[in-house]
Amino acid sequence: MAVLIKGGTVVNADRTFRADVLCEDGLVTAVGEGLDAPGGATVVDAGGQYVMPGGIDPHTHMQLPFMGTVASDDFYSGTAAGLAGGTTMIIDFVIPSPQTRILEAYQQWREWAEKSVADYSFHVAITWWDESVHADMGTLVENHGVNSFKHFMAYKNAIMCDDETLVNSFTRARELGAICTVHAENGDLVFRLQKDIYDKGITGPEGHPLSRPPEVEGEAANRAIRIAEVLKVPLYVVHNSCRQSLEAITRARNEGQRVFGEVLAGHLLVDDSVYRNTDFETAAAHVMSPPFRSAEHQAALWRGLQAGNLQTTATDHCCFCADQKAMGKDDFRNIPNGTGGVENRLEVLWEHGVRTGKLTMNEFVRVTSTNTAQIFNIYPRKGVVAVGADADIVVWDPEASKTISAKTHKQNVDYNIFEGMTVTGCASHTISNGKVVFANGELDVERGAGRYVDRPAYASYYEALQLKARYEEPVAVQR
Ligand code: URP
Ligand code: ZN
Ligand code: ZN
Repeated sequence: MAVLIKGGTVVNADRTFRADVLCEDGLVTAVGEGLDAPGGATVVDAGGQYVMPGGIDPHTHMQLPFMGTVASDDFYSGTAAGLAGGTTMIIDFVIPSPQTRILEAYQQWREWAEKSVADYSFHVAITWWDESVHADMGTLVENHGVNSFKHFMAYKNAIMCDDETLVNSFTRARELGAICTVHAENGDLVFRLQKDIYDKGITGPEGHPLSRPPEVEGEAANRAIRIAEVLKVPLYVVHNSCRQSLEAITRARNEGQRVFGEVLAGHLLVDDSVYRNTDFETAAAHVMSPPFRSAEHQAALWRGLQAGNLQTTATDHCCFCADQKAMGKDDFRNIPNGTGGVENRLEVLWEHGVRTGKLTMNEFVRVTSTNTAQIFNIYPRKGVVAVGADADIVVWDPEASKTISAKTHKQNVDYNIFEGMTVTGCASHTISNGKVVFANGELDVERGAGRYVDRPAYASYYEALQLKARYEEPVAVQR
């Protein structure tokens, strides 16, 4: 099976150049001008279009059991929606309930994900601690291609990870050569603020952002960063929504610490006025954590992305329909937290990043694909259009326009946080594993065609950390 992408302009993170791209048996086998199509090849006319590595969304939650319900997009519909927007890989999360063996939870998520139509991988959350967790982390890294562990510093009495568990897990990750990731919000503070706000009679969705101010996020981000600094482990802070957490990351990076930051398309483009909408359904549809913030924070996030202190963009795709959000009709604390966007991330970032001049096209590729591939150690298999890479490619029509709507999107949810936004620049074709799976608005996907992607443990981050540690080795005082 061969696909020749003809007449386009390749945009990688490092450069832009005119070339045809030949894909055979799932891989890119030639990149160059004037390539001939082998017999039987499908030819995609990319004239006037850009040929870029498919987007990688490093933060999704397909069919996540959460807050008494299950996220409405499953691994089939969610990965298909991603392909329709040019995203060819997701990194989802295994989230074990406390006291469940993490290896058992991992197997469960692997089973759920078998229906995926695009490639996927898993971060594994550490929600509790005992010797089995210590052992299973080793098995996951050594035998199952997991190189990242997630820690929820919020969601008290559910999946929250306390500092003791954080320290145990970070220490173990360091031994294994894995990276730690955190959802940074002080869960104890959120719990207290939620109660205070609810007791004051604020029961609607407007109570959600009031209970999760930016300081709550900044404190947790800084705490995780400092713990990671002491334990000498690389850290990735997910869904930064505010100036305070960005400042903590920037400070640490300026001090030479290996810390990475992710920002969601939603946090860049949707502001906190949505929570003051008098229609419960609309306000509740936007309830996610951390919440959408004011323009001041959005501007800071854009600057962080432009400056390189935030390296990746994601969606935290975790959809709940109106009937699920209604679980919190009388108490905002019971509104399932989460919103969608896996289908729209690339187009909204092109519209508001590239078309406004905030990002170059190469920077766009870097923050939607390449940096994630590099940080999570799957580069150059993913994240670049080059010979030998997986043939996961988006052909991007910079002239095509559309207006985003829940009425027409492919995500399995009845709301779209980008509803009504007109974008110019969209995927005309998506190639996944060497096959054209999306062309001119139509999906042609095969249930189960997505593959699990192994991510090996890190050598380079740890070599650097070890060299640094050697210089800083403590010395006993001779008495
Ligand atoms: O509100 C959110 N973000 N829901 C999904 C779980 C998480 O915190 O990432
Ligand atoms: Zn989170
Ligand atoms: Zn999440």
